[in-house]
Parts: sequence; structure tokens; C-alpha cells
Amino acid sequence: MKVGFVGLGHMGSGMAANLLAAGHEVAVYNRTPAKTQALVQKGAQAAAHVADACRGDAVITMLADDSALESVVFGTAGVIGSLSKGAIHICMSTVSTGLSERLATEHARAGQRFVAAPVFGRPDSAAAAKLFIVAAGEKDAVDACMPLFNAMGQKTFYFGNKPQAANLIKLSGNFLIASVIEALGEAMALVGKGGVDVRQYLDLLTSTLFSAPIYRTYGNLIAEQKFEPAGFAVPLGQKDIRLTLAAAETLRVPMPLASLLRDRFLTLLAQGGDALDWSAIAMLPPAAAGPQPGR
Ligand SMILES: NC(=O)c1ccc[n+]([C@@H]2O[C@H](COP(=O)([O-])OP(=O)(O)OC[C@H]3O[C@@H](n4cnc5c(N)ncnc54)[C@H](OP(=O)(O)O)[C@@H]3O)[C@@H](O)[C@H]2O)c1
Repeated sequence: MKVGFVGLGHMGSGMAANLLAAGHEVAVYNRTPAKTQALVQKGAQAAAHVADACRGDAVITMLADDSALESVVFGTAGVIGSLSKGAIHICMSTVSTGLSERLATEHARAGQRFVAAPVFGRPDSAAAAKLFIVAAGEKDAVDACMPLFNAMGQKTFYFGNKPQAANLIKLSGNFLIASVIEALGEAMALVGKGGVDVRQYLDLLTSTLFSAPIYRTYGNLIAEQKFEPAGFAVPLGQKDIRLTLAAAETLRVPMPLASLLRDRFLTLLAQGGDALDWSAIAMLPPAAAGPQPGR
């Protein structure tokens, strides 16, 4: 397919490379243009403006947050002003359900199609084409995107014709992951202070009742205290919990654990932890507990 790719950060750079590797024709745009260079060497066309990435069958956006997405989508030279009729905007960022709903309306008004397709998986999974993709939007539009999804992910899940459903699922998933990180941080602080070897403890967990990838990935990061460089940075984690709470408020669903997580991320930001991985919330329980003989 002929596609544009907008947003070449930790995730987007690997995803765009996999589209190229699968034989798609890709025009790449990034606010900071230097990040297009590695992809141009792999055969991508550098788009000088957002509009130049909107000349094909579809354009994928993989931007940080709502305001980044709004800044490239709206306005005369933005995605809506530049895509041709029938072309598809595939938004793979983690953004609010409200913006997703608005984009579906605005694209339909312009005769274009909109698919929300947020992803599960960190930058290493993006680079290895191992993402899990949650897609929602009109079925024919999602079907048309499948060659692209197959190039970037290991499995795509379809959740119906309302794009915002995919964003709600993604937000709920990140809420669950952050909850696991917080719980692991507390449990490892507990056993660590009690003199237990936290690596042996983690081996026990992940080889018995807690064998899910989330416990393995984050348990290892916590055991190694490896919070830099960030695969998923603290401001993005804070953004996802904020958006989860916004959706919860709209739907009138009390989520007290999400409120606690919001304060955990705010604590890291207040202490200048913007460059840390979001798993750094697991530093807070041992810091409160004092010396850890088991670490
Ligand atoms: N990292 C993960 O593990 C992970 C996993 C699943 C989903 N996600 C989601 O995927 C999205 C991207 O994450 P990431 O880790 O790739 O983020 P990232 O490395 O911070 O990259 C963010 C991208 O957005 C662009 N951007 C930010 N503000 C902008 C603005 N105002 N105007 C135009 N472009 C702007 C950046 O451009 P510059 O290069 O110019 O800064 C960059 O291309 C986020 O929604 C995140 O929640 C991330």
C-alpha cells in the first residue's frame, strides 16, 4: 500500500521500518526532521510537511498525546485538510476516547475514513513487529488496513465500528499494567526489606502463578532498578492514567486505584523524573521503606 507515517518516536520508528520491510511505499514525517534519516536509508520518502505524508491510501499517526495529534490533524495543511476522499487515517497513539470520537465525526464529514488502532507492546516489540493491535472503526476500513497491521503486529483484535472503543480498551490495559507495576514495587520492597533475594523471589513468581509477560518484563526492570533509558516515559504513563480517569468520570465508574496511580506518576514528575521509564513508580515503595538487605 501507499502510506504516510507521522510520528517517529520510540514506537513509530520501528513500526515504519516494518512497513518498509513488508514492501509498502512509505512517506515519513516527524516534527524533528532528523528522525526521518534512518528510514530514508531504508527506502522511505521524507515528507517535509504533514500534507506530504497524506497522499496515499492511508496515513498512520503515532504521536505522543491528544495535543500532538490535534496539532497535525486540524488546520488546512493538516491530515483532514490533506487526505483524499475515501483514504483512511489510522490513529495508533494512545489518546482520549473523546478525541477519537471527534476524529471519527470530522473525517466522515470530509469523506474520509477513521480507524483507531492503539497497540500493546513496548518499543522492542514495535521493532520486532510483535505488537498486539486493538482496532475499531468501520469494518471495511479495518479490513483495508490489515496488510499494514500484519506488517507491524503479531495479532489484531477487532472491537466493532466505534473507534473510541479501541482507545477505551487500550487505556484500561495500561491502567492494569501500571497497577501491576505498583503492586510489584510494593511486594518487592516488602520481601527485600525482609532480607529475601528479590531476583530469586521474581523467579518464583514468574515460574508459578505469575507467568504473564507483564510480570516478567516489569519484574526484571524493577529487580535491576533499570529505569533509564525510558521505553515508555513517565509523562506518557501519567497521560494514560489521566485519560483513564477522564473516561471513568464520563462513564461514572469510580476507579480508586487509578487515582492512587495518578499521584504516583505526579510524585515522579514533581521530583524531575520526566526522563524515567514509567516503571520507576516502583522506586517509591522501597524509598519509603528504607534500606533493603535483599537487594
Ligand atoms: N513507548 C511505549 O512503550 C508505548 C507502547 C504502547 C503505546 N504507546 C503510545 O504510542 C504513542 C507514541 O509513544 P512513543 O513512546 O513513541 O513516544 P515518543 O518517543 O515520545 O514519540 C512521540 C512522537 O510524537 C511527536 N510529537 C510530540 N509532540 C508533538 C507535537 N506537538 N507536534 C508534532 N509531533 C509531536 C514526537 O516528535 P519529536 O520527535 O519531534 O519530539 C514523536 O514523533 C503514545 O501515545 C504512547 O502512549 C507507547
